[in-house]
Amino acid sequence: MANKKKNNSTKEQEKIQAALKTANEFIYDDFVLGIGTGSTVRYFIKAISELIEKNSLDIIIVPSSLETQLELTRAGLSYSSLLEFPELDVYVDSADIITKDHVLVKGGGAALTKEKIMAKAAKEFIVIVDDSKYPRDLLSHPVPIELLSYAINTIIQPIFNLGGEFELRYGKGKIGPIITDNGNCIGDVSFNKLYNPAEMEKALNNIPGIIENGLFVSYAHRIIIGHKDKVETIDLI
Ligand code: A5P
Repeated sequence: MANKKKNNSTKEQEKIQAALKTANEFIYDDFVLGIGTGSTVRYFIKAISELIEKNSLDIIIVPSSLETQLELTRAGLSYSSLLEFPELDVYVDSADIITKDHVLVKGGGAALTKEKIMAKAAKEFIVIVDDSKYPRDLLSHPVPIELLSYAINTIIQPIFNLGGEFELRYGKGKIGPIITDNGNCIGDVSFNKLYNPAEMEKALNNIPGIIENGLFVSYAHRIIIGHKDKVETIDLI
């Protein structure tokens, strides 16, 4: 038990280091900053709020989910939306896994649709992770998808024809499927044979009823990886 606890705190420390480096080195005054969703991003929000509190940062923040809106409110930070600021200077988010070819799989927190919109709207997309997430085998994580509830049963066969197996995602604390911020369902597609992620990203979105999927191919501009004893930066631009 002690080992598992230690390992967890090491991972948390790695997330913190990646978040701190990003907040201190890549975010500047007057930036329109998009912020993703998840536990790693929570540390980034804390780092940003400390810089703003010290009056050493004056920025506009755009959140990617209700959860991030709540996190920002808890931190005493105001925020805007993509409607007011459709172009982001930087978008900072994490990922479920990153492959050796820098393909991101995202959506473990069911926020992938707005995350992908914001990643695309950003001049620079910075991904912050602990080192358990990179490099990872593409098949080591299912591909999350957001779908219309109306299509729950009609997408099963087309996904199967692509070599995938679809599983609707159920939450805890609620009977029935998880409902996203956008009022849709979320599911996970598992593959047991290697596939081309660029082709799969297009093929999944081509299935009627699928709104978006969690394959982010050629989206990341910079990857910041927290290790036990250092922080690694991979520049892809
Ligand atoms: C949210 O939908 C996801 O894309 C998250 O960004 C991803 O699951 C990483 O979350 P953690 O930082 O909690 O691992």
